[in-house]
Amino acid sequence: MKILITGGAGFIGSHLVIHFVNKYSNYDIYCLDSLTYAGNLSNLKSVEDKPNYFFLKGDINDSQFVASLFEKHNFQHVIHLAAESHVDRSIKDPNSFLITNILGTANLLNGFKASGNGANEKGKRGLFYHVSTDEVYGSLGETGLFTEETPYDPRSPYSASKAASDHVVRAFGHTYGTPVVISNCSNNYGPMQFPEKLIPLFINNIKNNKPLPVYGKGDNIRDWLFVGDHCEAIDKIFHEGRELETYNIGGHNEWKNIDLIKLVCQIMDEQLGRKTGTSEELITYVTDRPGHDQRYAIDATKIKNELGWVPAHTFEQGIVETVKWYLENPDWLEEVTSGKYKDYYDGQYKNR
Ligand code: NAD
Ligand code: TYD
Repeated sequence: MKILITGGAGFIGSHLVIHFVNKYSNYDIYCLDSLTYAGNLSNLKSVEDKPNYFFLKGDINDSQFVASLFEKHNFQHVIHLAAESHVDRSIKDPNSFLITNILGTANLLNGFKASGNGANEKGKRGLFYHVSTDEVYGSLGETGLFTEETPYDPRSPYSASKAASDHVVRAFGHTYGTPVVISNCSNNYGPMQFPEKLIPLFINNIKNNKPLPVYGKGDNIRDWLFVGDHCEAIDKIFHEGRELETYNIGGHNEWKNIDLIKLVCQIMDEQLGRKTGTSEELITYVTDRPGHDQRYAIDATKIKNELGWVPAHTFEQGIVETVKWYLENPDWLEEVTSGKYKDYYDGQYKNR
């Protein structure tokens, strides 16, 4: 079985590729990534010599390339994660988000459809699994949770582009009978996340005694899920989810930013052997993000009842494991922050 995983050199994608390559030796996993600033092949070092792992460098925005890729490989399934993913970047440059997240997704859907929806010789169809975000539902007040029925109300260029891509995926399902499924997940954290997102940025800044820029009052709320739990949920949905359905994935783990930041400061003090309170002194309140969504929180009842998925990691375990990973992998952080990771493809990979 050939599975195309897009965005596999990014944060969640690399965890998912490693999960599938190691768990399913009978699946051939093709990782497609254009290696933008967020794509890092050294994330995939642990699987690069495995016989069921293949890396393809390419851009989902290139419709001809995508069409020829599907013609050549006849992938049975697609798990689509490639995207521009950082809200702050989307505020500075909305168009690149609209292009990759909407048109890139449409290119993949066209390629998948043209190749027969992944049907095998017995006529069994494949699946186009679109990985999306809870941010499509907009922003919550003090109470309430996002369910799969919550109307879409995206408010940043990032979330608007992801919402549009979700609509395009469903439109292919309804109009052309393309076998599709979508999941919308809350904020992920864990090893190998690009250090411009909150948690790895703050770990790196604390390590280097740099200011911690808290947007606004720090009272925005996010629902944090360990990346490994997201991958387990994707695995479940991929194998057992129902076509044309949407599944919300979340950690039942809401944190006000400032409380989360103080917790990270405390763990960092412990891990670095610094006096309690040292890291908190780095907290600096800065101008708020424009249109900053106040609160996200997921109701993950459907995936629990239908597929039996619940997160396996407690936040207390996951956040300590995450902090330790960044401290135990200074080379990874150094490569990423210095830009050296960009040489990995040329040095190790290009001629394979
Ligand atoms: P990421 O930014 O770390 O990785 C994205 C990957 O996509 C990178 O490897 C990048 O090189 C690749 N990519 C970007 N544009 C491409 C293009 N045009 N062609 C080919 N590859 C391209 O993102 P992430 O945090 O791992 O998120 C992965 C997916 O999960 C995204 O679709 C995102 O919307 C979704 N998601 C993320 C979160 C989260 O908290 N990080 C939560 C819910 C959903
Ligand atoms: P982020 O990791 O960018 O994820 P998202 O915006 O997709 O939820 O940010 C998480 C929260 O942290 C969000 O409320 C914005 C806030 N934040 C800061 O306060 N300072 C920062 O430097 C960053 C990157 C984020």
